[in-house]
Parts: sequence; C-alpha cells; structure tokens
Amino acid sequence: MAAKGFFISKAVGVVGIILGAGAVATIIVLSVAYSQEKSKNVEVNPTTTTTTGVPVTTPALNEPWHQYRLPDSILPDSYEVTLWPRLTENSVGLYIFTGDSEVTFRCVKETDLILIHSNKLNLTVNGNSKLATLTAEDGSMPPAITDTWLEVRTQYLVVKLNGNLKVGQRYVLRTDFTGELADDLGGFYRSVYMEDGVEKVVATTQMQPTDARKAFPCFDEPAMKAIFNITLIHPRGTVGLSNGMDIETVNVTIDKMEVTRTKFAPTPKMSTYLLAFIVSDYDYIQAMEGDVSIRIFARRKAIAAGQGEYALNVTGPILKFFETYYNATYPLKKSDQIALPDFNAGAMENWGLITYRETALLYDPDVSSNGNKERIATIIAHELAHMWFGNLVTLKWWNDLWLNEGFASYVEYLGADYAEPAWGVKDLIVLGDVHRVFAVDALASSHPLSSKEEEIQRPEQISELFDAISYSKGASVLRMLSNFLSEDVFVIGLSTYLNQFAFSNTVYTDLWNHLQAAAEKTGTKLPATVHDIMNRWVLQMGFPVVSIDTATGTVTQQHFLLDPDSVVDRPSEFNYTWYVPITWQKNSVKGADFWLLEKSDLNNDLKTTSADQWVLANLNVAGYYRVKYDDANYARLQNQLTMAHELIPVINRAQLIDDAFNLARAKLVPTTLPLEMTKYLNNEREYMPWESALDNLDFFYLMFDRTEIYGLLQTYIMKQVEPLFNHYKDITADWTKVPERHTDQYNQVNALRMACSTGIEACTDLVTKWYGSWMNNTQNNPIHPNLRSVVYCSAIAAGGVKEWDHGWKMFKEATIAIEQDKLRAALACASQPWLLNRYLEYTLKPDMIQYLEYTLKPDMIRKQDATSTIVYIANNVVGQPLAWDFMRANWVYIFNEYGGGSFSFSNLINGVTKRFSTEFELKQLQQFKQDYADVGFGSGTLAVEQSIERTQANIKWVAENKVIVETWLKSAISP
Ligand SMILES: *[C@@H]1O[C@H](CO)[C@@H](O)[C@H](O)[C@H]1NC(C)=O
Ligand SMILES: *[C@@H]1O[C@H](CO)[C@@H](O)[C@H](O)[C@H]1NC(C)=O
Ligand SMILES: *[C@@H]1O[C@H](CO)[C@@H](O)[C@H](O)[C@H]1NC(C)=O
Ligand SMILES: [Zn+2]
Repeated sequence: MAAKGFFISKAVGVVGIILGAGAVATIIVLSVAYSQEKSKNVEVNPTTTTTTGVPVTTPALNEPWHQYRLPDSILPDSYEVTLWPRLTENSVGLYIFTGDSEVTFRCVKETDLILIHSNKLNLTVNGNSKLATLTAEDGSMPPAITDTWLEVRTQYLVVKLNGNLKVGQRYVLRTDFTGELADDLGGFYRSVYMEDGVEKVVATTQMQPTDARKAFPCFDEPAMKAIFNITLIHPRGTVGLSNGMDIETVNVTIDKMEVTRTKFAPTPKMSTYLLAFIVSDYDYIQAMEGDVSIRIFARRKAIAAGQGEYALNVTGPILKFFETYYNATYPLKKSDQIALPDFNAGAMENWGLITYRETALLYDPDVSSNGNKERIATIIAHELAHMWFGNLVTLKWWNDLWLNEGFASYVEYLGADYAEPAWGVKDLIVLGDVHRVFAVDALASSHPLSSKEEEIQRPEQISELFDAISYSKGASVLRMLSNFLSEDVFVIGLSTYLNQFAFSNTVYTDLWNHLQAAAEKTGTKLPATVHDIMNRWVLQMGFPVVSIDTATGTVTQQHFLLDPDSVVDRPSEFNYTWYVPITWQKNSVKGADFWLLEKSDLNNDLKTTSADQWVLANLNVAGYYRVKYDDANYARLQNQLTMAHELIPVINRAQLIDDAFNLARAKLVPTTLPLEMTKYLNNEREYMPWESALDNLDFFYLMFDRTEIYGLLQTYIMKQVEPLFNHYKDITADWTKVPERHTDQYNQVNALRMACSTGIEACTDLVTKWYGSWMNNTQNNPIHPNLRSVVYCSAIAAGGVKEWDHGWKMFKEATIAIEQDKLRAALACASQPWLLNRYLEYTLKPDMIQYLEYTLKPDMIRKQDATSTIVYIANNVVGQPLAWDFMRANWVYIFNEYGGGSFSFSNLINGVTKRFSTEFELKQLQQFKQDYADVGFGSGTLAVEQSIERTQANIKWVAENKVIVETWLKSAISP
C-alpha cells in the first residue's frame, strides 16, 4: 500500500509559512510511548460489577475464539466465492451486497472446532438453524455442527463440531451472507461520483490489512494462502473486475433481475489481503507488454480525456524493469490498474488489479504538475514492485510489514528512474524518505522496525504499523544495505529469495540469509554477517550520529536524540550502537570506506593537515546516519560553501544543512551554526539544498511567526531568496518558459513561494496578474500546471473575497482530482479570518446538519479529504486559532466521523497543534484532553500525548533560542 500522507505535495505552500516534508520535524519527544506500547499488549479481562458493588472478573478469555490469531489445525486450499453488489439503495435505504462462499480446507491437526474470520456480515441461517454447512470432500459424513456463532470482538465465525476432523482429510465449509456496501473505504465498499448530472456508484474493495473478512468469511491471515475462484454478479452494462482474467461473461436472470455474471480465472495461491472485486461502468485503455495485458481503468470522462495515457505508457517499461531487476518474470497474465474517486490510501497492490486514488494514477498535461507526474510514476513503481515482493513472496505475519513496505518504498525510485531517467529521481529519496523519517526516528518515542510477532495481534495494532518508520526507515536501511553490498550482490540475493519462496511466506531473516549467500558467493567483504549487521538497524530504534574530529582522526557514534533531555526507556541488546558504513572524501579526493563498529575508533586518514582541507562523510547520504564535525572542519566547510559550493556534492549540501539544523535542536552544535550555513544560499540554485533549508526553517516560522522575530526572519529570507527569484525570471525568459530540469522545475516553485511569502513585490504582482487574468476568462487558465499550487495560494492570500470565491467556484467545477486538490489547499491560504471560518463551515457544516445523509455528496469535500482540509487551514498562521476552535467545538462530530481511520486522524491533531509554543496553549491542550476524555480520541490518542509533549518542548526551545536567533538575524540583515 502506498500511504497518502507521504505524498503531500511539496508545492502546496501557505503564505507566511513554509510547508514541506520537514514539517514532521516538529514532532518531538514522547517518553510515554514505549510504556503505552507495552501496556496495550496486555489483554484485560472485562470486569463487571455485581449488585453488591463488588467487581467480579469474568472467567479468563482463553478459549481459542478469544485469541486474535487463528489456530494451526486447518489450512485453506481454495475458495469459490460469488458476490453480488447492489449499486442502488434497497427499500430501507441501504446499499448491500449478497454472496456465498465455499472454502475447501485441509485438516492438519485433529480438532473439533473451525474458526474462520467474518466481520460485519449477516450470515444466513440455513435449514438446521446453523450459520454454515460442512461437507467432506470425499463424500463421507463429516462431524455434525453442534453450534455456530459470531464472535464480534475477535471477528470470527465459530463452528463447533460433535467430533474431530480427520487429519489429512479435506472439507468444504459453505456460508451465505449479506453485507453492507457502506461508504467506509474498507472491505467491500462503495464510491460515488457524478457524471453528466447522474450519480454513479462503484463497488470496490480495500482488504489490507484485515478487511477481506468484511467481504466474505475467510482465513484472513497473510500466511493462509489459497486459490480463489471469484464470480461477480453485476448490473448489465457494467464491468466486473477481479484479480484474475475474466473467463466467462453471460447475461442471466436471477430473482427476476436481469444481470451479468462474470467468472474469473482461478488466482495463483495468494493471501486474502490482496484480493480485489470491482463493479463499475468504467472505460479503459489497453496495451501489451510481451504477453502481459496492461489496462488502465477510470471514469469514462477521464479515459476519454486521455488521463490514463501516462500511466499506460510507464507501466510497461516499469514492469520490464522489475522483471530484469528481480530476474523473475511477471507472475500474472494481466496487470489492471484502476482510479477510484474515494480511496483511503494512495494505492493498493491487489495482485493483478491495483487500485489508486485518482490523483495517484490520472495525468493531464494541461492540469498536472511535474510533481503530480513524479508521484504517479513512483506510486506505480511502488505497487508493481509489490507484485513480486509482497504478493508472490509474502511475509508470514504483519510484524514484518516494514520489510514489505520499506522494500517497495526503496525500489519505487529505481522503477521510476528507469521510466523517467532524466529526472534524477533516485537522489530525491534523501528528501522524501531519509530526512522525513530521521525526524521521527530521532525521538525517544520511536520504535524499532521489527516488532515481535506476538506483540501484533489486533487489527488496530496491525494498522498502526503503516507508519513512517515502516515505509521510510525501511526504505532507507534497505538502500544502505544495497549500497554497502553493491547493487549487483543485492539483486543476486533478492532473486534467489524470490525464487525459493514463490507462492509462500517468509520472515525477514530469510532475506538476510539469501543476501549473505550472495555476499559469500561474490566474495564481498563485510565486518560481520548480513544478519548481524542488519539486526542492529532493525531491532533497535533510532540511528547514530557519527562525530568526526579532523584534528585527531577520532570517529565516534552515539544514539541521536532530537531532544537531549528525553529519556530512552526502551532497552536495546546492542546498547544503541550500530555497524556504520563510513564513506568520506577529503576535498575532492575520495577516502577508503571503513566500518565503525565500536563506540569509538581512530582513522588517521581523517586528520586534516592544512587550513583549506575539509572532510565530508556519508557520501550521497547512502548511510542512515547523521554526521557531526569538529568546529575547525565546520569552519572550512562553511568557507567552501561560501567560496565555491559546487565542490561539495549537491546531496551532501542538502545533508550538511539538515544535519546542522537537527544537531542544533539536539544541542550538539549551537543554533547559529545552521543559520550560518543558510548564508550561502543566495548563491545556491539547486533544489535539494534549498528544499532542505526551507523544510528546516519551517520550524523557525512556526515558532516565531506570531512574534516580533517574524519581521527579521522575513527580511533575511527575502534577501536570500531574491537572487533565486531573479535567476528563474532570467532562465524562464520572464516567466514564459518552463525550466528544463525536473528539479529546477521544483525549485522554481520554491523561488516563487518564498518570494511571494516574504513580500517581494515583483512576485506578488506576477501571481496577482496571472490569477486575475484567469478570473476574467475562466475558460483559459494561463498558469502553468507546475506553478498552480503556489500561484493559487499566493493570489488568494494577497486577495480578498473575489479571489476566494473564484477559487471555490473553480474547485467545484474542476473535473480532475489533481486540480481540485490544488484549489482545496490554496483556499486555506486566505488571510482574512472570516473567509477561513466560512471555509471551515463550507467543508464540514452542511453535512453536520444532517450528517447521516452526507456521506459522499459530490458537491462537498469528500470524506477522504476532510481532515486534511482542516490541517491546511491550521497551517496558515491566521487560520490556526480558527481551526483549533473549530476542532474543539465540533469534537464529538469529528470524532464520530473520522476517529476510526488511522493516518488522517493523528495528522489532524498534530497538524492543528503543531504551532503551539506557549504556556497558555499548553493549558488549552490539557483542557481539551480532559474535556473529551469520555468521548475519546480514537486513533488520535497517541497524537494528543505527542502534541502535549511537543508543546512543552517548543516552549523550552523558544525560551532558550529566541534571543540568540533575534541577535543573529539582526546582524545577518544589517549590511
Ligand atoms: C476453481 O476453478 C478451477 C478451474 O475452473 C477448478 O478446477 C477448481 O476446482 C475450482 N476450485 C473450486 C474450489 O471450486
Ligand atoms: C444485518 O442485520 C442487522 C440486525 O438485524 C441489521 O440491522 C442490518 O441492517 C443487517 N445488514 C444488512 C446489510 O442487511
Ligand atoms: C448483456 O446485455 C448487455 C445489455 O443488455 C449487452 O450490451 C451485452 O452485449 C450482453 N452480453 C452478452 C454476453 O450477451
Ligand atoms: Zn506498499
């Protein structure tokens, strides 16, 4: 799955604030997390109170159906499933689906109990008043069913028998059921959109991690692989899709209804979480890549407008790339990809039928930016990578999710780079994943990549694993591994791993074993086994900061903590030391790589002998660690940046800045050091260093944009950004041409964003002129797609109600989700409070009046987008208090609507409170926690704690740094 939170457009800037991946950097310290994590694994027996008031503990919940994991007595072989979603409401106003399923399973241990997952399904009672029927495959008499019931908490259908199943014998369990085709984005659900004034319903699925059991009773664990024979019944004229090819489509009449029945080829042996069933009246385009049929499905209008073409064009090459990379042919005959109006994640790698948000698949050159295009290429690559890694070979249990997602998040850059070699997208992993997760993994509240199998039991615990650590740290450490082994060795091990475990399941150490074998076969020198090296990165949280002293040649490592006062209460068997692969150069001469094994080491080559010699380590940021130097080396690097920054590689320029800002937060270097480093930016033209600096300065803006320091900060940044703005004016022939390089196109957005937000008049005039001309002629938008986010935002910020209303109108009329997203974010940039308050009302209030009916009325903000809209408003310094008031005032409603979803809800709480840095705000936050303790905070519970701790840390940081920053800025802006 590709998570949506990881792809928030960089270009969506709010005037006066800098947004970006680094915004995550403001998440600080959560010492309570580990103890919470420990306690939540303890199952508490429910207690009841007797009439005498004495609490009585009910008998221990230790029957098999009280456990969240399936017993190991039976294993499924195959399923025969028929599903019939109704795309119109029934007589009581419900969208439903009906279905039946027969699962053939093998008994491998004697048992008189069948447990099979089933959630929110109404099972039909058959002749003998049981919820299921059992037959033996060989026609013999199976034990009789004595009792059946649904165990709601653990989501089972429980089937008790009057005798034992025989080991080695196959049985068939049949169920008939009805479920709701709700708009809840999970299991079998519905998505709604308007086309030519007609409301259309799509029935679609999202099973990962534990919602296949909401579509039909099944053994819903990734290791319970089976073959699936799927049949869909659907309205005539609609298309039925599933993982396999359709093999038979006939028109039939069932219950006097004229319908179409589509049967699909049996799937390969696969996990339930990768199933997909979709009924729609979509259109598609098709191409062949060798023997593989590639199809892109979308709304008819989107296909007719050619919005699927880009995805179709890159899919073939990316598939080809992965076949070569894995040295394994694509395991299926077809690769369908489909864009859905309502979809919670970014995309989902269902085997052979990948589902996407519209913004993650549909591309329109007249509307989409280069960033939108990059996102499409990388998400497609991410999902296609899973077709082998994850789908063909699957991790046995969710505790190893990080390997699945980390791997796909790493190789997505390789796949996208193959499809678009001119972009240089491989470097961008440093900003997109390494920096992003450094911010989270530097907290005492972080957690190791790998969890113990027994610690991950309940569906919520599984959902929590889909976080930045699994995706971005997973990607970062696998990239490091591939680098120190060399990519050639890495892919040898990968390929033998995929071959050995095809159609079955693994644990992460199976991959280490194959990589170890590849290392041995190729004679690769390592300081220890792959297993021993990697365990330190996988089993302990966090990462090291490597300190290099160029006077003595000493190298040391220590656990990097963003807050030096935080207490690490999570024990580590490795005492927070790592096997660190050190790469370095002295001026332009590359030094010999070495490993730092102990806390401290001496490498005389690192000594510098003359005043113009500097040392730079962690080249290309291939290693997952930060580097700190001695003062003299910093001075020389600083000098090099000022004199000729090009001699320091561009990725490392970005890294020096990011390291310096974070080392300062950790009090390992003075706050003035990173500020000094930003001085050379007036000569910098490259995207990565700028992006890195702006991401980090975002924190300064958040802390100071309501104080007197704001003016000084603006003056300084304006001075730094003006040359960049003028540079782009030149190379674009006065804003009429698009810069050639991909990253230059990105940095053009930074130049405009910062120039406008710091008040450079030429910028404000420019965006106002463009936007005004669009307002005068709505049929002809003169703003280049790359620049739309920033121009819309800047123009709405500089404008008033007329500009805002135009944006809102265009938002409602937009026919492509990418354009809608840009406008939705830009509308939050308004600088007049009443406009922002009205926006808050527009987005949520209409449906609050009768919210049961709201669901997905297409003229409003979609449910999937509601919380991010509030966060956009809170990102605006003017909107922040409004969003906070709004959230508090409407908490019960917001909680009921969004409290269940994992990602978005904690983003909401963290987003609305991230600027908090005063005692008064801390009090408000604590009051909020108290006021709604009875309602609860759902999946945002941890976020409330994080917000409180972050606010406390912010208060401390401001107290310690305000005067220092003020003094430094004053001297930096005085001539
Ligand atoms: C699935 O379909 C295949 C081919 O049509 C058939 O051989 C197999 O028996 C079916 N499996 C089940 C469980 O019905
Ligand atoms: C399932 O049964 C419950 C209780 O009878 C009912 O409220 C619900 O509407 C049913 N769901 C469907 C989809 O029929
Ligand atoms: C089924 O009916 C639909 C609409 O009535 C028609 O377009 C389609 O060709 C028919 N399909 C088959 C396989 O007969
Ligand atoms: Zn994924």
